[in-house]
Amino acid sequence: MIEQHLNACKARVEACLTAQLNQLPRSEVQLADAVAYSLKVGGKRLRPALVYSAAASLRADLTLFPPNLTPLDLAAAAIEAIHTYSLVHDDLPAMDNDDLRRGQPTVHRQYDEATAILVGDALQAWAFELLTQIDTLSADKVVAMVKELAQASGPKGMVLGQALDMQATGASESDDYLKQLHGLKTGALIRSALRLGAYCMNAGPKERRVLSAYGDTIGLCFQVVDDILDVTTDSVTLGKTAGKDQEADKLTYVKLLGLEGAKAEAQRLCEQAKASVVDLPNPQVLLELADYIYSRAN
Ligand code: IPE
Ligand code: IPE
Ligand code: MG
Ligand code: MG
Ligand code: MG
Repeated sequence: MIEQHLNACKARVEACLTAQLNQLPRSEVQLADAVAYSLKVGGKRLRPALVYSAAASLRADLTLFPPNLTPLDLAAAAIEAIHTYSLVHDDLPAMDNDDLRRGQPTVHRQYDEATAILVGDALQAWAFELLTQIDTLSADKVVAMVKELAQASGPKGMVLGQALDMQATGASESDDYLKQLHGLKTGALIRSALRLGAYCMNAGPKERRVLSAYGDTIGLCFQVVDDILDVTTDSVTLGKTAGKDQEADKLTYVKLLGLEGAKAEAQRLCEQAKASVVDLPNPQVLLELADYIYSRAN
């Protein structure tokens, strides 16, 4: 059931991304090719699924596959573009220096470093352009969505988390530091995906609060599991280099709590996230997604 839902969300957002990518200018430089390369294959598309699932939890009927792009499709594509930009830059030699991403060479390996920097820059601006293409919600609502995504991704959100990550040594930081770091570098975009779905549904403040709380908790859970998978899973399954965190001596939940402690924390967060949404009109898909995030293989 959840696999079917994830596949349907994936198909929808990929159709939107492909249609939008086809509109990028093809010139003698390979920018559009490299942008397409970064986006095309292998991602789980979890953040888009969260956009659609937030809407489903508020009784959107996702079985009606509309012929035209909807606000949900454009919001899902926008958050995937921001997420993919964060991965392209995260993999750069100056950051995590990774060679493998989504089962293929990282953008700077496939092309070169300058191209990878520009792909990230391009994806970031393009994400906001996608949001501004929403023409069936009020202009005020679209501005609110642009602000939402900007706050979650910029110097108050994901980028701040990445800066904390680059600085952390694990020698002196506290539990709270790691919680903040993970909450920002990964949680902020996951929370934002849910909030964008809520905006598309004209959700009220109470529903937005519930979805935000779920996003905070499941976002942190997602990164704790990412830390666990780095030590328990092989590179082929992950589609990225296993064992990188230990090699680079990263501050992670496994380093802080040990493997068993990190697993217990991930399970606790999963249960907490599920408990937070039970009063939504149709929470089933968010309950199943929480279990998927906790028990996923990659
Ligand atoms: C990887 O995210 C980066 C983190 C925030 C841990 P995903 O595991 O969602 O990566 P893709 O999109 O499926 O490749
Ligand atoms: C990445 O965290 C978070 C962002 C890209 C913002 P990681 O560095 O742990 O992600 P992976 O493990 O390389 O996917
Ligand atoms: Mg990193
Ligand atoms: Mg990394
Ligand atoms: Mg990781």
